[in-house]
Amino acid sequence: MASVVGIDIGNLSSKIGVARHRGIDIITNEVSNRATPSLVSFTPRQRLIGEAAKTAETSNFKNTVGSLKRLIGRSLNDPEIAEYEKKFINAELVDVNGQVGASVNYLGEKQAFSYAQLTAAYLAKLRDTAAFELKQNVSDVVIAVPGWYTDAQRRALLDAATVAGLNPLRLINDTTAVALGYGITKADLPEDPENARNVVFVDVGHSNYSVAVVAFSKGQLTVKSTAYDRNFGGRDFDYALVKHFAKEFDAKYKIDTLSSPKAIFRLTTAAERLKKVLSANSEGPINVESIMNDVDASGSLKREQFEELIGDLLKRFNQPLEQALKASGLTIDQIDSVELVGGSTRIPAIKERIQAFFGGKQLSYTLNQDEAIARGATFACASLSPVFRVREFAVHDITPYSIQVSWDKEAGNPDEDTELVVFPSGNAIPSTKILTFYRQGPFAIDAAYAPNQANLPAGTNPSIGKYTIKGVEKTASGELACVKVKTRLNLHGILNFEGAYAVEEVEKEETVVTGEGEDKKEEKKLVKKIQRKGDYQTFAQYNTTSDQLVNEWTEKEGKMHAEDKLVQETEERKNALEEYVYDMRGKLEDRYKPYAQAAEKEELLKGLSEAEDWLYTEEGEDATKSAYVSRLDALKKIGDQISTRYRENEDRPRAAAALRETCNEFLSQAQNGEEKYAHIEAADKEKVIEKAANTLSWLENQLVRQSEKPKNVNPVITSDEINKRKDDVTFTCAAIMNKPKPRVKTESGTQTPNEGAKDEKMDTDDKAPAEDMDID
Ligand SMILES: Nc1ncnc2c1ncn2[C@@H]1O[C@H](COP(=O)(O)OP(=O)(O)OP(=O)(O)O)[C@@H](O)[C@H]1O
Ligand SMILES: [Mg+2]
Repeated sequence: MASVVGIDIGNLSSKIGVARHRGIDIITNEVSNRATPSLVSFTPRQRLIGEAAKTAETSNFKNTVGSLKRLIGRSLNDPEIAEYEKKFINAELVDVNGQVGASVNYLGEKQAFSYAQLTAAYLAKLRDTAAFELKQNVSDVVIAVPGWYTDAQRRALLDAATVAGLNPLRLINDTTAVALGYGITKADLPEDPENARNVVFVDVGHSNYSVAVVAFSKGQLTVKSTAYDRNFGGRDFDYALVKHFAKEFDAKYKIDTLSSPKAIFRLTTAAERLKKVLSANSEGPINVESIMNDVDASGSLKREQFEELIGDLLKRFNQPLEQALKASGLTIDQIDSVELVGGSTRIPAIKERIQAFFGGKQLSYTLNQDEAIARGATFACASLSPVFRVREFAVHDITPYSIQVSWDKEAGNPDEDTELVVFPSGNAIPSTKILTFYRQGPFAIDAAYAPNQANLPAGTNPSIGKYTIKGVEKTASGELACVKVKTRLNLHGILNFEGAYAVEEVEKEETVVTGEGEDKKEEKKLVKKIQRKGDYQTFAQYNTTSDQLVNEWTEKEGKMHAEDKLVQETEERKNALEEYVYDMRGKLEDRYKPYAQAAEKEELLKGLSEAEDWLYTEEGEDATKSAYVSRLDALKKIGDQISTRYRENEDRPRAAAALRETCNEFLSQAQNGEEKYAHIEAADKEKVIEKAANTLSWLENQLVRQSEKPKNVNPVITSDEINKRKDDVTFTCAAIMNKPKPRVKTESGTQTPNEGAKDEKMDTDDKAPAEDMDID
């Protein structure tokens, strides 16, 4: 059965939703957290991803990489990286095949990974978390992305998913996912789309701020407008605090905080904590142990001061709201509800601003603000997957940027335009458009973002792709060929060229009816018709990573994943050996004492000591998995005998009692003449009596033999053997005693057929039936 998984990659942390138990669950990771830090860390031994990376971050911050969603699909010289991103990144940024990457110390050498690779490593971790929880392989997913993601960013994320072995059924825009999760659970949406319920969703997260105005009516949602401040979020507030306290601490402690990346890192952690305190309190403390030069720094801040520090940011706050509202064509009183999501909407100053903007309207928190995106993405996955039947809910999303195609003028057609906006901003996704060209030979068209789009991230390479159409020639009658080119903005929000074909006008004889009533006539007429003539050979090239490179990355990721797994398993085997040494030594003096012979005990204790000593040698500290396994196996060879004797001594009486009870039950059934068993023949009952009695005498015999043995030798009879006897008795005797009574004919001669048997037969379909999903 295919998996149904939705992923919200947050800049700080990510959430995973799965569909099961007739609903959607946000799952927990290996340390029982519902959010997993979006970090990948490299060490001399292995990679640490998610929680493990977070734990190691303080001591390994230069080799711990975050900002995955911010940098994937960008290039190193992108001006936004220098302007906004760099100050939040501790690793060294480098170019990897034209994309931005990080250079880290890994396995004892400097290695560079593109952000697509880093994101792939992270997605693979989320995949493992989901697979562990679902106890099945995970491949089908829906991944949420910021609505402002460009074509290149979307393609890069799909590449990362491929490298991680995932199959994204859709990249869904963050706020659209939230809207879907909102709409699909609402039973009271207006029937009439003209009368839709208009909801504004506001998401302020760690790095990003999004607004969407969405119209809901029964069974559908329509995104009316979106607006963003891509560089506005919790991390910017943290940074404002860092700058403030760096100044304060520098003066107070005579240090130079901003000169030390480690000091900045520590201060940032403390600043985030203070920021959260200030959401609930009017004043809060900050303490940074050993910020630098062994100085423990501390201070405090009032909420008003904090709001002053982020004053410049807050001034920008209304702009996306204004922009989205304007583009939606709605007025504030046409807005029915304002829903907040994202961690930073907990900040009072942000809430106040949103409320003030909407004229004091009550803000709504009906959604789980941390998990709404992941839930919505999971709904989207469920509705695209055959596994679940979800209530039909149509999602009409839009693209934020205008895409145009351009081409060289056709010599034979001087009046021809050379460009066309094919998908203007606000165009629906998905959407297909057929472009028509008149050409005398092969030609190419370019797709690119239309110029002068203020909302397009600065530094975005406008070029999206090039499409070459081959084999075009004039028609037989010497006219320009009419070429249709299929372009599609697909479900991921990515532009693709999907084929080119020739059409020609043909004249066909058709029967045409003219006139009415008396004058009605049938005439044969020549009618001009457009007819598809055949596909051209085409070649598409997008501004993206080559398949070959994606394959290389996939292979490399597979290797690194396997190595990480081996390192982890080795660690587990080492711990198992260590634990065995201490556990066994303790038990030998305790509960196992009567079960070990003196020589055995001596040998085992010696083995345990040797293993312990070895574990502390350089060799034992860092050995292979098989070395730990074989040491443990050798110890267990002696130890298991002892522990088995102990366990058998505990289990034997229980097994014997169960066997006795079974035999006695059959004896009584066969002997006491109950009406229930009256139909069973005497000879059969005899068989039962014999089997049960023989088994009982075998058991008592064995138990006597066992009682003559000391505890420190292997048992003559095991609980396993006793259990097998119990199965054997049950098998033989139940077959006889459970024989059904012959049916007596009733007077009318009708007997109710066995309904149960009929029902069972219906379920022979070998396909697992789709599960219904409850969503209310
Ligand atoms: N009580 C709080 N007060 C203030 N800020 C908070 C509070 N709780 C969480 N935050 C902030 O919210 C941010 C995390 O929010 P969220 O989980 O929505 O972000 P994300 O999804 O990881 O990031 P993004 O959406 O930008 O990719 C962090 O900056 C965090 O400090
Ligand atoms: Mg988020």
